[in-house]
Amino acid sequence: MQKIWVISHLSLSLQRKDKKKQEIMYSKIIETAQWLKAKMPCCPDTVIILGTGLGRLSEEISVTLTIDYAEIPNFPVSTVEGHSGRLILGKLGNKNILAMQGRFHYYEGYSMKEVTFPIRVMYELGVKTLFVSNAAGGTNPAFEIGDIMIITDHINFFPEHPLRGKNFPTGPRFPDMHEVYDHELIQQADAIAAEKGIKVQHGVYLGTQGPTFETPAEYRMFRVLGADAVGMSTVPEVIVAHHCGIRVFGVSVITDLGVDGKIIEVSHEEVQEAANAVQPLMAEIMREMINRS
Ligand code: HPA
Repeated sequence: MQKIWVISHLSLSLQRKDKKKQEIMYSKIIETAQWLKAKMPCCPDTVIILGTGLGRLSEEISVTLTIDYAEIPNFPVSTVEGHSGRLILGKLGNKNILAMQGRFHYYEGYSMKEVTFPIRVMYELGVKTLFVSNAAGGTNPAFEIGDIMIITDHINFFPEHPLRGKNFPTGPRFPDMHEVYDHELIQQADAIAAEKGIKVQHGVYLGTQGPTFETPAEYRMFRVLGADAVGMSTVPEVIVAHHCGIRVFGVSVITDLGVDGKIIEVSHEEVQEAANAVQPLMAEIMREMINRS
């Protein structure tokens, strides 16, 4: 009897702690959003996360304002080489957008709550659409280095779920995931790519924690699981965005191949280089999508 009382008491106290943690996080999200609102002349409804090697897409933006992550209250600070860590407000094509140059990776040691914190802030700012880009290793044998893969679906292979804990009222406790990557945005990207003669692939992105690239056996396993590409980001932010009702469009640049017979040594620098080379094409698709939105 006493054992039951102790267990239920413990679980009640855990629930209370969880609630308290969430209240603290929510007040931080609001504080950050209010701080940003006060700085920004307008709140765009589209945000782009510029992934590894794609940070230079920001050169396509006519910049109104840049804010270093380090200045933003409660924002984690990006540490990985090649990510400068700043928020950019400006015009891409004919629309105002926000761009996150640099993101927070789980492998850097951030918690899932920290990795996805900026998305919750974006939701509070009124963002309705998220464009997300990343570099990824191709596991689909039909892929080549430098291919642009439109993400049609994902596999969450992270060891911790970003929605774990007391549910945020932005969405249901058990969110439906049947269409996370907006099919209209995918169709639009396909049409633009066809018009401009840009080759695009489609596929499933598997997000894993890193920081190691995969062994040949791991690439094989991910292929068997249904992945066309594998990377170390995106899935946590996309899950939270989806839970907030934000439309998502995602693209991967295939920077190396995890395909039997084609696996060679891979380094972060090579990944960045391969992604850099594809940047103008990615920019063209995204600019046009934003123009037409
Ligand atoms: N694996 C994981 N993450 C990556 C890869 C890869 O092969 N390429 C770029 N990011």
